[in-house]
Amino acid sequence: MVEAVINAATTFPRQRNIILVGKANQVDETGSTYRYLELTEEDANHMVFLGPSGFRKTTAMKALIQEIWTKTSWGRDREKPLIVVFEAKYDRAKAQAVKNTFITLLKEKGEKWLKDRFGEEHYKEMKFYITLLMNPGMAGSIGLMGDFALAWGNILGLQKIDSRNTELSNFGLRPEPFPMRRIVFNPTRELHHIAYDSGPEAEIIATKIKYSRLNFEDLAKLLNLNNYTIYSGVIKEAWDHLKIRDPDEVLHRAKEIYQEMLEFLEIESAKPNMSLWGVKATMERLKSNPLFEKDGKDLIDIIDNDKINVIDFSQNSRLTLEEKKLIFRKIIEYLMNEYAQIKETAIFIVGDEIQKYLDDHTGRKIISSLFREGRSNQINLFAATQYLHSLPSELIYGASHIAILGFLTSADDTRLLRKLIPDFELKYHQPLARTPGEVEKLRREHKGRGYIIINKLFTERILFRPSQTL
Ligand SMILES: Nc1ncnc2c1ncn2[C@@H]1O[C@H](COP(=O)(O)OP(=O)(O)OP(=O)(O)O)[C@@H](O)[C@H]1O
Ligand SMILES: [Mg+2]
Repeated sequence: MVEAVINAATTFPRQRNIILVGKANQVDETGSTYRYLELTEEDANHMVFLGPSGFRKTTAMKALIQEIWTKTSWGRDREKPLIVVFEAKYDRAKAQAVKNTFITLLKEKGEKWLKDRFGEEHYKEMKFYITLLMNPGMAGSIGLMGDFALAWGNILGLQKIDSRNTELSNFGLRPEPFPMRRIVFNPTRELHHIAYDSGPEAEIIATKIKYSRLNFEDLAKLLNLNNYTIYSGVIKEAWDHLKIRDPDEVLHRAKEIYQEMLEFLEIESAKPNMSLWGVKATMERLKSNPLFEKDGKDLIDIIDNDKINVIDFSQNSRLTLEEKKLIFRKIIEYLMNEYAQIKETAIFIVGDEIQKYLDDHTGRKIISSLFREGRSNQINLFAATQYLHSLPSELIYGASHIAILGFLTSADDTRLLRKLIPDFELKYHQPLARTPGEVEKLRREHKGRGYIIINKLFTERILFRPSQTL
């Protein structure tokens, strides 16, 4: 009986776990065919997206998330997938492109045409957003659309690619906003301004991390503690062994712990007590960091699969690299160790250059356990980068599929893929440019096009699915 339930859990009959990545040319050159990736419950599907800057790596990942969000459901309760995106930057050019496209389409096609495509309500909201963009007084406050903003950019897909099709209609798609939760830390601008740039279905939440989530190792990294000093010994004792995860309480108990330590070590100290001062200074530093809080609902309590979660590491959040690494680590640990037990669904972790948050000892440990246990927990990692050599080898060898947007920028990467992929040599063509004019031509011809290497077994030339939202 139990077995029957487990089997029934695998796929939702109408929405197979099949993901469209793009259109591939037919082998016999008669036209093109949709190409799907199969995402199964049994496998992790780590993917790497490669390509030069501006050739739509981020866009391709965004489009894939949209497919996963709309087409898949998982587990016994047919849960939505849990998607967590780490967004590295915002893009000033994007809002300008949206504005110009809106104005052009309004002139050429008229208001009714746009209303038909966006719906009355969203059209009005979009028009309001465009007026804000045109207001010089709002410059610097509005117009900073995140790389993964899942809304207004959809208008770019309405541009014509030939006499019959737009980028979206070519794939049978229409513009759509996606439910999104944008999570910011120590925000650098008003939340409602961030909201305007994020589209109609976005919820913006400024949040923190509870002290109780941190262990001593986190504190040591964050505050640069020297592990061999007495004061950090006192903090470690309080924080990890006595589980006093509150700086005020640590201060309150520090003397006692310190005395105990001296007695145990049979040290008699008559000198002024600099170690206690070290504890105090460290705890004060922790308290003054606005990223942390004593209690309340925090980041980890917020992440869920009712919306697409975007962790805003762009200039909207005031964070140091060490803090970003901490947040990244905490989220991955939570997803691996807890979320997978709370909800039976697949998890997708997505971002540009996310390996840079995992470049130390702890990070490497997390990557390898993610690749080891990711499969059983259905945790999938999608990462975009310009070069393979910047990636930890696990990310390359553990990837199921590799997408190339445009072409490869490094001869080393070409060599590596030739060794790794049986038909790469045959299928992949490295374009050459000899004049600035040819570079421009390359750019035009390759944007949104490239190759997909499926299951590390075969390579195909492909036109990637555009983003419905951009
Ligand atoms: N259909 C489209 N029409 C017009 N512009 C588009 C379209 N799709 C994407 N773009 C724009 O192309 C630009 C590059 O796309 P994207 O950010 O995905 O590239 P990237 O490879 O991730 O670049 P980078 O390495 O700089 O992060 C973006 O500013 C995006 O808005
Ligand atoms: Mg990008």
